[in-house]
This record gives sequence, C-alpha cells and structure tokens, in this order.
Amino acid sequence: MDHYVISGGKRLEGVVPISGSKNAALAIVAAAMLLDGPCRIENLPQVRDIHLLLNICRGIGATITEEKPGTVTIDATTINTWEATDPIVSSLRGSYYLMGALLGRFGKAKTSMPGGCNFGNRPIDLHLKGFAALGASNDVTYGHVNLDCDSLKGGSVFLDQVSVGATVNIMLAASKAEGLTVIDNAAREPHIVDLANFLNTMGADIRGAGTDVIRVNGKRTLPARKDYMIIPDQIEAGTYMFMAPLTRGDITVTNVIPKHMEPLTAKLQEMGSTVEEGEDSIRVRHDKGTRLVGTSFKTMPYPGYPTDLQPQATCLLCFAEGGGRMIENVWENRFQYVDELKKMGASILIAGRLAVVQNAVLTGASVRCDDLRAGAAMVMAGLGALGETHVYEIIRIERGYENFIGKLTAIGADIRRVSDHPA
Ligand code: UD1
Repeated sequence: MDHYVISGGKRLEGVVPISGSKNAALAIVAAAMLLDGPCRIENLPQVRDIHLLLNICRGIGATITEEKPGTVTIDATTINTWEATDPIVSSLRGSYYLMGALLGRFGKAKTSMPGGCNFGNRPIDLHLKGFAALGASNDVTYGHVNLDCDSLKGGSVFLDQVSVGATVNIMLAASKAEGLTVIDNAAREPHIVDLANFLNTMGADIRGAGTDVIRVNGKRTLPARKDYMIIPDQIEAGTYMFMAPLTRGDITVTNVIPKHMEPLTAKLQEMGSTVEEGEDSIRVRHDKGTRLVGTSFKTMPYPGYPTDLQPQATCLLCFAEGGGRMIENVWENRFQYVDELKKMGASILIAGRLAVVQNAVLTGASVRCDDLRAGAAMVMAGLGALGETHVYEIIRIERGYENFIGKLTAIGADIRRVSDHPA
C-alpha cells in the first residue's frame, strides 16, 4: 500500500477542473442496466468506485466498451442474470442500485448487501419499503437481498426519512413498472435530477425530480440509443473550494454548476472568503491579511449543507478564529475521524451529533483515513499544518477523488504518494 506525504503551509493557487459526479455516475451506470438498447455516457469520473461498479456490471453480462477515459458505451441487452452476488458488490455502497435496476429489468433480483463508508447504521428498510409498494416481496438471507414479484406495478411511497439511495432505487424500479409511481418526501440532491434526466433521455417518463414529489410513469421498454453527460461533482468541487481559505490561497474550480454549490458558498463568505461565480466556474480567494472567521454548520439533505462536506468543514474550523460548531443531522456516527485530527493537535469536543471545534495550531503527524471524505479532511489538515503529515489508507480517498495528487500539485501543494514499504 501507498500513503501520502504532505508538507504543510504552502499557499494554493490556480485552477482545478472538476470531474463528473461520483454519486450521479453510480446511479446512472446502474440505470443503464435497465435499458433496452446501448447508451453512451460521458464524464464518468476515473475513480475506484466507478471502476468497481463497471466491473460488477460486466460480471452480470453487460457489454461495456471504453471509448476513452470517462466515456463508455453500455449495452445491457446482453445481461444474463438477475443475481449480483460477487464479493465486490458488498465492497461499495453504490452497488445497492443494482437492486432497483435488476428488479426493474427482470422482476426479480438477488444482490449482496452493500458496503461503503462506515458512518454507523446504514439501513436499507426504505429501499425495501419502496420495492414492496411496487409489489416486490423481499427477504435478506445469508448476506443477500432477494426481491421477487409476479409483475411490477406502480404504487405510492412515502419516505419517512429523506433518503438519496431509496429515492434512486425506487425511481429505477418504477421506470419499468406498469403504471404510475409517486415518491413522496423524495431526496432532491443534484444527482437525483441527473438520474431523472438520464432516464428521460433514454425513454423514461419521470417528473418532479428536484422537488420532494417525484412521479414516474413506468414504460415497458426504454429504447436508449442516446448520449448523456454526467454533471460535475459537487463534493469534489467543495473540497477544493475549502482549500482556498485553508491556505489563504486563490482557487478557481471549473466545470461546476454554481447553483449546486450555494450551500457552501454562503458559508465561505461568512468565514471571510471572497467568492466569485462564473457561468461554470467559481473562484474562492482568501488573502493572507483577511481574518478566517469561525461559524456553525448543520448538515441537511439538499439544498441544505451536505454531510459529504462535513469532515472538510470541521477541519477548516480548526484553523478559524473562534473555531465553530458542526451539527451532523444525516448520519448517526460521522465524527470518527476527529480522533485522527486530534493527533495533529486539533481541539474538538464531540457530544452526540454535535462537534465543538476550537481554534488550534495543527502540526504534522501520521493519520489514517476512516472513510472517503474523512480522508479528504486529513489531506486538508496536512496542507494547513506545520511540518510533515503522513496520511494512510488512502485507497479510501481514491474511491472518490480523481487524480487527487495531480490536481493538488498543479495548484502548488507539496504532496506525494510513497510506498508504505520502500524496497
Ligand atoms: C448517499 C451518498 C452518501 C451521502 C448520503 C447523504 C451515494 C452512493 N452515497 O448515501 O455519500 O452521505 O447520500 O447525502 O450516493 N436511511 C434509513 N433507511 C434507509 C435508507 C436511509 O433510515 O433505507 C437513513 C440513513 O440511516 C441516513 C439517512 O437516511 O440517516 C440518509 O441516508 P441516504 O440518503 O439513504 O444515504 P445513502 O443513499 O446511503
């Protein structure tokens, strides 16, 4: 295994092109498994989770050809099984979208229970409730989810908690169910809208994505034979935007949709950064002489402040005058990484879903990535700290950040990837 070595204290300046959204891509690749003809998808991020999902899809018989990095043609008409039980399936969260996709395609599905980042309990009860509303029975045995129905029929689903994954899965199955499905209290994340746009481009009839009521008129066939480009990654963009105040730098993220970044831009302005929005870019500046002021964050489903930018914001608060507070409303246990920040001198008190952060001088140490976004926060901490930081278990970061080292070094970071066990 390799790890990152970061020399802190460098001012970051320059342009970071943002890759396609990982979470949108996971939903869209799974959605391609429903289609009755080939589709061409552009702007797939070159990250581990996407490579794994593409391999799982190949494993069940889909024909996937890569035109160039990030552009693939997927033909699902060659799929020969409704079972996705390869051990890789349980190594990533996004594989759970195969439940909805295979159920929609075959009226039955058998998949391994999903894996992914560990933020405490990650139930799938709402996904199963949604499938049941479409007429599918379920049981979970020997680590597999089994779904079955005589015929998939549209139904009404009320999600008693806003769930991105359940919204996606119900949209997938409902696209091929007979009649109308209504999803109430649906998630409104940008990638829900992107999935609806993709499926509609391929022949589906989905309305209301981006609001909390989504209506899906099921179609017997989804003819596809179209091209689609995935939206930019809101979380990747946000991670780099935070690095401007962190290093008193000047960073422009390009290929972004500024509207998706609003929950973050408001916070950066509160903290003293200057934020300039272009049509598809955002420049964040924070001059050396300008105070970095602490604030409070509260994570919420979109359009609230995203939980996937929570560790990065908590890290930034360590460097802010007066520190700040972070309330984690989405996941029950997403502060595990705080112990790693404490190894670098952070002063953070956790009380349930609240983190109280005090301003501190962080110094280099050896730290571990607990999960994907926590890993990004460790790198941020290293960039802002005095001395040298060693970040381990970086495979978790590479699940979701394309060319992380390349993009960081291009804006002046001193970060390199070294082997844990030099020869
Ligand atoms: C997705 C994202 C993840 C992000 C999360 C919230 C992907 C692959 N992952 O995860 O990065 O952190 O949205 O924005 O897109 N819940 C239930 N029952 C369910 C499902 C969820 O109670 O059946 C609860 C969860 O415990 C959690 C909340 O709902 O407290 C939100 O979870 P959800 O939106 O489903 O997250 P994921 O789709 O797994």
